[in-house]
Amino acid sequence: MRKVSQVDQLKTELANLASETKSAQELMSRMVKLLHARMLKYNWVGFYMLEQGPPPQPPMLVLGSFEGAMTPHTRIALNQGICGAAASSGKTVVVDDVSKDPRYLACSQETKSEIAVPIFVCGKLAGELDIDSHFPAAFGVVDRELVEYCASLVGEHLAKNHR
Ligand code: SME
Repeated sequence: MRKVSQVDQLKTELANLASETKSAQELMSRMVKLLHARMLKYNWVGFYMLEQGPPPQPPMLVLGSFEGAMTPHTRIALNQGICGAAASSGKTVVVDDVSKDPRYLACSQETKSEIAVPIFVCGKLAGELDIDSHFPAAFGVVDRELVEYCASLVGEHLAKNHR
């Protein structure tokens, strides 16, 4: 029989967490802690949630629960950074070497690679899960699937409050 991988085990824990947690806020706060603690290359893990400012102010990504060093980027416009690129395209963005990506907004000198995954609620963008690593090219296929799974768990949880 196949040995359950560390990531499969973590996915099961995350699914259990999502089903037992009452508020999406609590789910996000516990999820960043769990990912940061278990995935050794995930050195900064945080949520940015979409805030629709009153017109004519543009929508912004606002820092939510996070684990890791404080970032200067607490509010990010949709046309800025890796975060803005993921949010505005609605697609996962993986950057293997942030020093070579002109979109990158620096958070820590140590960051070498990054992944940003949009979160959808009933098909509409609600925010994203952003992870930085001190290691180059830290986010492979398995990581991408894991982070997209986390984003979908949060999206489904947030959708419950919309029903
Ligand atoms: N690097 C991100 C900014 C957020 S920090 O990494 C926490 C970006 O380029 O959008």
